Amino acid sequence: MSGDITTIPPHGGTLVSRVIAGEERAAALELAAALPSLTLDSRTVADLELIATGAYSPLTGFMGLADYERVLHEMRLADGLPWSLPITLRVTDARRVRDTVALETPDGRAVALLEVRDVFTHSKEEEAQLVYGTTDPKHPGVAHLYGQGDFLVGGDIRLLRRAAPLFPELALDPAETRRTFAERAWRTVVGFQTRNPVHRAHEYIQKAALETVDGLLLHPLLGPTKDDDVPAAVRVKSYRVLLERYYPRDRVLLAGFPAAMRYAGPREAVFHALVRKNYGCTHFIVGRDHAGVGSYYGTYDAQRIFERFAPGELGIHPICFEHTFYCQRCGGMASPKTCPHDAGSHVTLSGTRVRELLRSGKLPPPEFSRPEVGQVLADGLREVVA
Ligand code: ADX
Repeated sequence: MSGDITTIPPHGGTLVSRVIAGEERAAALELAAALPSLTLDSRTVADLELIATGAYSPLTGFMGLADYERVLHEMRLADGLPWSLPITLRVTDARRVRDTVALETPDGRAVALLEVRDVFTHSKEEEAQLVYGTTDPKHPGVAHLYGQGDFLVGGDIRLLRRAAPLFPELALDPAETRRTFAERAWRTVVGFQTRNPVHRAHEYIQKAALETVDGLLLHPLLGPTKDDDVPAAVRVKSYRVLLERYYPRDRVLLAGFPAAMRYAGPREAVFHALVRKNYGCTHFIVGRDHAGVGSYYGTYDAQRIFERFAPGELGIHPICFEHTFYCQRCGGMASPKTCPHDAGSHVTLSGTRVRELLRSGKLPPPEFSRPEVGQVLADGLREVVA
């Protein structure tokens, strides 16, 4: 049965694998020990593994100048394939960077080999403006960029070692999610990116999308996020309790997306969609202010950006939702598209307001968040304070 199922092709047509195994690995580890090395931060280690396992197909390494410049200016790789975010390795000192170098984790373990193709510099302000739409150092993505080295090192990588995943049972590579979809005979799968607990609005748009496809990949981002986002461990507990009680087991797969959050709004929405295609999704949810932060982006900018690509070029269908909420007069979840009542009837809460409620010992109202999820958040906050 599952043999009949054709999962969607990865971006560029082939699922990249840059993981070295077997005897070759032993030789490569020996070589790495003798080579000059570059130390990566945790975000770049995550990118390295995502390249190696095909999540960033067709990338086979960190971007060189030609890909980088075209991505910045046109949202395309040098060969014309759509790609919206630079995936780069930045270093402060490039003097010994040539030929092949070893890449190390912050604790000094060699994890990959990099065949250096390009070493170049580029204005960080220009990257910030083009990628994040601002040069404001208060923007978390821009702040991260400004804190990095000035030299970009491009070239293909080969992965020698995997980091131990924080949530091993959620660590599914693209080949594994694709296999699972095929086993479950899901022809169409909608991917959902989130860096938050799943509130009623999220649940509503997930289930509305699931009504039209075979399966849902609940794919929370579990890599580095900004400090005031809910910690991944608390979120994972909240996803489990919610799935257990309110979702049909055979229609949902929960897996972690180990990348860092960039807060690049529209460009990150395209990136999130392309990467979920590599995990085997045919559809991708884009709601209001996807991957946004503060008021840097318009509410629906992350939906409009998809219009800049010809139909079929991205190879994954965005499913767009307006700002959804619980409406007391409708007596259910709704959006401006489906609800005629005014804002006074709508239950909407900011993240700040939710935190205030939890701090004062109250749960968010059940119209905003399932009580079980509210309780996990309250317990999580107590643990952080204790
Ligand atoms: S994100 O930074 O990972 O995009 P978040 O976890 O808040 O943030 O959102 C996950 C997805 O749900 C995004 O596509 C976002 O646009 C969408 N979303 C969040 N809240 C709402 C809402 N109230 N109405 C519609 N879409 C929403």
